[in-house]
Amino acid sequence: PGTHTADLVVFGGTGDLSMRKLIPALYHSDRDGRLSPEFRVIALSRGGLTDADFRGKVDAEVRDQVPADDQAGWQRFLGRLHHVSVDVGRHTGSDAGGDAGGTDTAGWGALTRLLAGHERRDRVFYLASPPRTFGPFCRELHEAGLVTPRSRVVLEKPLGHDLPSAQRINDEVGAIFDEHQIFRIDHYLGKETVQNLLVLRFANAFLEPIWNSLWIDHVQITAAETVGTPGRRGYYDHAGALRDMVQNHLLQLLTLTAMEPPARSDREAVRDEKVKVLQALRPITGTEVDRFTVRGQYVGADGMPGYLDEPASTPPTEASRRVETFTAIRAEVKNWRWAGVPFYLRTGKRMPYRRSEIVVQFKDVPHSIYPGGAPNRLVLRLQPEEGIQLHIMAKEPGAGEVTLKPVPLSLSFGETFTTRVPEAYERLLTDVLAGNPTLFMRRDEVEAAWRWIDPILHAWESQAELPEPYPAGTTGPAGAHELLGRSGRTWHEED
Ligand code: BG6
Repeated sequence: PGTHTADLVVFGGTGDLSMRKLIPALYHSDRDGRLSPEFRVIALSRGGLTDADFRGKVDAEVRDQVPADDQAGWQRFLGRLHHVSVDVGRHTGSDAGGDAGGTDTAGWGALTRLLAGHERRDRVFYLASPPRTFGPFCRELHEAGLVTPRSRVVLEKPLGHDLPSAQRINDEVGAIFDEHQIFRIDHYLGKETVQNLLVLRFANAFLEPIWNSLWIDHVQITAAETVGTPGRRGYYDHAGALRDMVQNHLLQLLTLTAMEPPARSDREAVRDEKVKVLQALRPITGTEVDRFTVRGQYVGADGMPGYLDEPASTPPTEASRRVETFTAIRAEVKNWRWAGVPFYLRTGKRMPYRRSEIVVQFKDVPHSIYPGGAPNRLVLRLQPEEGIQLHIMAKEPGAGEVTLKPVPLSLSFGETFTTRVPEAYERLLTDVLAGNPTLFMRRDEVEAAWRWIDPILHAWESQAELPEPYPAGTTGPAGAHELLGRSGRTWHEED
């Protein structure tokens, strides 16, 4: 038990995600003894690499993450890696692909031979490729006879670019795989603090009675990044912060914060409750976007380039000028527990700090007998360091007048637990191998999220105005501060 035997086939196997996240995660799983000796990783790409070439590439790019005392383990891990060249160009839209030629039979043939005789193992097809390839790849796998009853498919985000495209992808993939075989990744769900949020809420008694609109003033969910988008314009021009971060990561955090206690910790019970939150989100339509949403784009400052000046293979277009690299939204969950409690969402590139957190701000005390109090805040920090802080009011030591000071009751996971915290991808890959989809997005969840996002996208598209500029290295455009400021609230900025 706990050891997995599977063939993991990675589409886009030499790509950025595979080299930066998947391969290191698999190595750590191997090191922790979770992979059986027969476990194989089969990377697919057009690269024309041999197994030896691929192992050499992985060795060159990932070896610095391997502890000095595990060189033997690393060599054993490299031995699990295989590479098959499949020309996937006609699906990825690349002009080097075989548009005229149709299926690359030689490539699929090579994959078929490698998998032959292993039909009774688990087989995982990991699609780390653009969403438009998901349907076609699943069909190709099916036509090549490679989809066994023990197969699973993992889909990377973004799942489409709006509701209709997401539904189409879900239909296409769903024609080949059953829903229980489909694992839609949102890597935020693999982060330790995100899972801890559920434990904090549902394994402790003290929070539940105050986790509602009677005691909570508002919630802030921030994912701030210092990085810009160098080399990513091709993707980002058509994504933007709303599709890239809010539709998935931020809405997932919102659902976990707002969901009702599930009756069990199993896959359907948890996801049923999450979907209900998405369905309860008040739609933001038409002219309401001006009141409830803000979009910004960073411009050059302090030696940092603006979005339009980032290195890219093509010059900026109208789409580049219109795309938001920052957004802030005032969302509302229309149900008994949360009516009247704003959920402010905010994410941006080139902000002054890298920080992802959920901040729950409680109401003021009903009647204050001391001057200078401030409301309690519960801060769940996902990164850079993981931890939970409860900001409480304390008396500053001293004789004379009582002076209040907010002080944090602080839990740092790094200091409290000495065990290694696994990377999100490691956790999620382990769940895929175990066949546990609790931390993956179900079809109805993804579609409910798009259903809320689409009207905002449409309203933005119909506006003549461009996103508000903000200087690189700052906390976003003025509008983001006004969004809270007009009800006397402020973003949580302190460390
Ligand atoms: C990805 C987005 O899903 O998440 C990126 O496409 C973003 O634009 C990344 O940088 C952030 O992930 P993390 O784990 O660094 O917060």
